[in-house]
Amino acid sequence: MPSSNFFKFLLIVFLMDLHKLTMAEDSSNGYHGNERDALLALKEGFNNSVLDGNWTGIMCYMNDAPYWEGIQCLNGRVTGIILENMGFTRKIKADAIANFTELSILSFKNNSIPGNLMDFTNNQKLKNIDLSGNDFHGEIPLSLLSLNSLESLQLQGNKLTGSIPEFNQSSLKTFNVSYNNLSGEIPETRTLQSYGLSSYIGNEKLCGPPTSTYCSTRNYLSDTNSENSNSSDKKDKSSRFAAILVVVDVIVLVVILFLFIIYYKKYQKLKKETKVKNLLPNDEEQDSKNQNRATEPERERGKLMFTDSKEARFELDDLLKASAEGLGKGNFGNCYKAMMEGGLVVVVKRLRDLKPLSSEEFVRQVKAISDHKHPNLLPLLAYYHSKDEKLFLYKFASHGNLYNRLHGGRGTRERVPFRWSTRLAVARGAARALEHLHQNTKSQSTAPHGNLKSSNVLLDDNEEILVSDYGLASLVALPIAAQRMISYKTPEYQSHKRISKKSDVWSYGCLLLELLTGRIPAHSASPGINGVDLCGWVHRAVREEWTAEIFDSEIAVQRGANQGMLNLLQIAMRCCDKSPEKRPEIRQVVAEVEEIKFTADSGDEEYSYSSLERSLTDDSQSTAPSMVVADDQN
Ligand SMILES: *[C@@H]1O[C@H](CO)[C@@H](O)[C@H](O)[C@H]1NC(C)=O
Ligand SMILES: *[C@@H]1O[C@H](CO)[C@@H](O)[C@H](O)[C@H]1NC(C)=O
Ligand SMILES: *[C@@H]1O[C@H](CO)[C@@H](O)[C@H](O)[C@H]1NC(C)=O
Ligand SMILES: *[C@@H]1O[C@H](CO)[C@@H](O)[C@H](O)[C@H]1NC(C)=O
Ligand SMILES: *[C@@H]1O[C@H](CO)[C@@H](O)[C@H](O)[C@H]1NC(C)=O
Ligand SMILES: *[C@@H]1O[C@H](CO)[C@@H](O)[C@H](O)[C@H]1NC(C)=O
Ligand SMILES: *[C@@H]1O[C@H](CO)[C@@H](O)[C@H](O)[C@H]1NC(C)=O
Ligand SMILES: *[C@@H]1O[C@H](CO)[C@@H](O)[C@H](O)[C@H]1NC(C)=O
Repeated sequence: MPSSNFFKFLLIVFLMDLHKLTMAEDSSNGYHGNERDALLALKEGFNNSVLDGNWTGIMCYMNDAPYWEGIQCLNGRVTGIILENMGFTRKIKADAIANFTELSILSFKNNSIPGNLMDFTNNQKLKNIDLSGNDFHGEIPLSLLSLNSLESLQLQGNKLTGSIPEFNQSSLKTFNVSYNNLSGEIPETRTLQSYGLSSYIGNEKLCGPPTSTYCSTRNYLSDTNSENSNSSDKKDKSSRFAAILVVVDVIVLVVILFLFIIYYKKYQKLKKETKVKNLLPNDEEQDSKNQNRATEPERERGKLMFTDSKEARFELDDLLKASAEGLGKGNFGNCYKAMMEGGLVVVVKRLRDLKPLSSEEFVRQVKAISDHKHPNLLPLLAYYHSKDEKLFLYKFASHGNLYNRLHGGRGTRERVPFRWSTRLAVARGAARALEHLHQNTKSQSTAPHGNLKSSNVLLDDNEEILVSDYGLASLVALPIAAQRMISYKTPEYQSHKRISKKSDVWSYGCLLLELLTGRIPAHSASPGINGVDLCGWVHRAVREEWTAEIFDSEIAVQRGANQGMLNLLQIAMRCCDKSPEKRPEIRQVVAEVEEIKFTADSGDEEYSYSSLERSLTDDSQSTAPSMVVADDQN
């Protein structure tokens, strides 16, 4: 046996020399001179007694286990460098790892390496980087953004400065930059927003979600200013400089404000000048086509069709002449507010991603939608369809949608508290709308609304609640619907690809939880916004008895209404039961929601900013005895 080992050793030495002689750097031979040299350069840089004793002789040979401490190889190429807790205290050169093009794992965790991070441009196969617990300073290198296989990046516990680059690799599952000295807004990429606060904690100057610090323009300005100021080597001048900065800050703000006012005025003008016509280039084309071929029958030129002939107060041409203002991107098309000459305002929805339906089939489906008439359903006034363009015209609801009302402007002075009475009105209105849809839909295997969420609940004058976007499932291709509609996010669709009327009940339950908690549910959050799995969260909260923390603080203070909130919470939890069979029918839900009394004297007036918890547990400290009496449920 010893002789065979000795023979192998000789062979290896011989092969190595042979390769050195021929200057071969060919990976198929399992030997990479430049990688070994790069490791030796690293060793020299570290001046570490363990490495000095161990990194000698052969590094890797074919598929033998690696001969060097902390090195992983595959086919003679270095795939891993794992040197943790080694007490390194020397800098690493920027190009130190440039030759390891097969590198997949790199860890220098828990050393004391100072200096900047290295350049990762050549290490496209890196999956796992752990440089936590060192003294790295400077900025996070942008070369990390190009690593498309990166799964884990751990940089916590260093002294990194600057802002976080816009990481958006979908592969990146573990990310930690906590306890550094990073600043600025956490970029709103899907990837970065998918991590919790603990990935970012310990960086005082980071702001924006998921931190609770609001990024003010001022913060941002002073941040960029101090970054540009090269403060490190001008400390003696820094106080004078700071004074100048404040002045510059103010000037910049004034200029920005001024520009903003000018821009705003222009924008207002522009907005007035935009016509619906400009939004619909296809129509114009068709117009001219039709004029040119006047002899041909009116093949595809559509007409504005009113769902109720009595309502026909304008023509397509009036609509095309109307001035338009974008209202936002919906899941099934952009919406515009069109203001016509007589002062009439309608919402124009440009439908996209529709099923290829014949003209007759389209009209049939639209009729099914427009036949639903209910005070809590946003009425479809008219529609238009040509080969290339399909429009729905709706009533305009003056107070916008529930999502904006519920979540907009939080933490700012413009925010007007959204009171319990209005929230209860929303709960009632939405339930009644669903009940109507359910009563007038025969099929059991569809969700008659299909897309109930807060952005589809509109608030009109006098707290009128109007549910919109109902019935669109019949017009949209299945893959699109499955991607974008709430009924396809239900537990039953996720597990059994089944949908029913109870899917709407689930969506309704989630809507109630959103109303009660003021939190954004994950299934309807727009990209870049961190939603919560509300049903799961609330069930956990109730089980672990932190019920008081469930309610949105804006309503929690309305003590007289607390019993009503608890009742609505119980309904919501039954509605979002995982099993469709256990959810109540919408008819029953309506009855129960209507039973929740709203007592005008019970708290809406008594709007105080004390916390619910204190008021629930410590009545003796209440200075207003009338508030204690208000519980009408007893
Ligand atoms: C990487 O390899 C090249 C030869 O291909 C060599 O010139 C260079 O010094 C190596 N870099 C390091 C950091 O070892
Ligand atoms: C390497 O470290 C030893 C102590 O461990 C020290 O004596 C020596 O001077 C260092 N070498 C260099 C080049 O700094
Ligand atoms: C280097 O360390 C590795 C792993 O600890 C060990 O297997 C190897 O024998 C060591 N080599 C030398 C030359 O000490
Ligand atoms: C970090 O490394 C040092 C040696 O440099 C070691 O003493 C210490 O236990 C390590 N800490 C952790 C948490 O592993
Ligand atoms: C963080 O960085 C700032 C400069 O941007 C510096 O003044 C401060 O000392 C740093 N804090 C720590 C804890 O390193
Ligand atoms: C990030 O990547 C996702 C897809 O992985 C994409 O939808 C999104 O637009 C990208 N950008 C941002 C800013 O989130
Ligand atoms: C990030 O690192 C810090 C410090 O080690 C730790 O407290 C935190 O839990 C880590 N977060 C994640 C998401 O790994
Ligand atoms: C800071 O100033 C030094 C010299 O005063 C210069 O070498 C360095 O590049 C500057 N750094 C920045 C970030 O401007």
